[in-house]
Amino acid sequence: MVRILSVVGARPQFVKLAAVATAVSAAGHEHVIVHTGQHYDAAMSDVFFAGLRIPDPEVHLGVGSGSHGAQTAAMIHGLEAVLEQRRPDWVLVYGDTNSTLAAAVAAVKLHLPLAHLEAGLRSFNRRMPEEHNRVLTDHAADLCLAPTQVAMRHLAAEGLAARSVLVGDVMTDVCLEVRRQVAASAPPLPAGLSPGGYLVATLHRAENTDDAARLRSVVGALARLDTPVLLLSHPRLVERARRHGVDLATGSLHAVPPLPYADTVAAVVRSCGVVTDSGGLQKEAFLLGVPCTTVRTETEWTETVDLGWNVLVPDPAGLAAAVARPRPAPTGATPYGDGTAARVVVAALTGVQQMSADPLPENGGLSSR
Ligand code: UD1
Repeated sequence: MVRILSVVGARPQFVKLAAVATAVSAAGHEHVIVHTGQHYDAAMSDVFFAGLRIPDPEVHLGVGSGSHGAQTAAMIHGLEAVLEQRRPDWVLVYGDTNSTLAAAVAAVKLHLPLAHLEAGLRSFNRRMPEEHNRVLTDHAADLCLAPTQVAMRHLAAEGLAARSVLVGDVMTDVCLEVRRQVAASAPPLPAGLSPGGYLVATLHRAENTDDAARLRSVVGALARLDTPVLLLSHPRLVERARRHGVDLATGSLHAVPPLPYADTVAAVVRSCGVVTDSGGLQKEAFLLGVPCTTVRTETEWTETVDLGWNVLVPDPAGLAAAVARPRPAPTGATPYGDGTAARVVVAALTGVQQMSADPLPENGGLSSR
């Protein structure tokens, strides 16, 4: 039996954890879940654990919000004691948040084997905190678990091929399963929105929310669209909008608090398009067959763009034309796998563990594919 310790803290990590927790327990391995507390609102955390049936975290650090330095430092400090006490066979970290980087630093300083799930994604935009989090975590990790071939190529280009393995995308596992579950249920839509006649929008990235003029211009462009917009409002958006005096209840906007995962999937499936700066939602729109418009200069999920289902519109002036574009041609391509990635993740972790003498071989015991 292998002891895996997962560190999570932010909403997209709970979705990935849902797939991994199921697969780890099905394979009969021990799994300790540690929550840093980066996301603490019930709507951002508890409802994901309950809705996706994730076991409660054994440890909750309760770190909360703060500047990058204060938040990340508090997490490293809290995690060090937990990791020292538990000494798992693997510390598993997810994605690109401050919780990811903090756990990576804490683990490697204690010489604990570190695996990074969703390794190899790159925006090549060094102004994004997430880009630094992912690059630093990949280079610290003993095992880079990559979701796509593109991610594998990025890892190889940075000299990390020998410790990288293509496992597929665990968010696909969850998204496809939840789509099956919600197929028959109607999403909770505010008055004035009808199936097929609204857009789903989210906005939370620092580059879109922190600067008052930028936030005003993106929100203004959304509010002026002809189609009603269901704006799933991340707490960061709500907080910055209040601070900058930007109205989220105007024009076409129907701003609602963040939805549980299943309701989000149900809302997207019945929408006519998605407008977002989220990474995960771009991919979920693709998996659910809904055209996406991304309010950023680049994306890590380039396959969605290459296949015609996502367009990058950094300038809010281009938003109206982008959402009115013709629906893309259907594609049978499955760049994000078939919904069985979590099993491959567990096989990779336990395979390496069983093969490896202590310490881990330099390449993590795996060859790149
Ligand atoms: C974080 C991740 C981002 C990820 C996102 C998903 C980093 C650097 N960023 O961004 O990559 O896409 O999570 O949601 O780790 N807040 C609350 N309640 C909460 C959480 C946040 O009110 O439960 C507010 C606070 O005002 C806080 C702000 O949101 O200051 C930002 O939260 P933080 O966790 O620092 O980053 P996110 O913007 O959520």
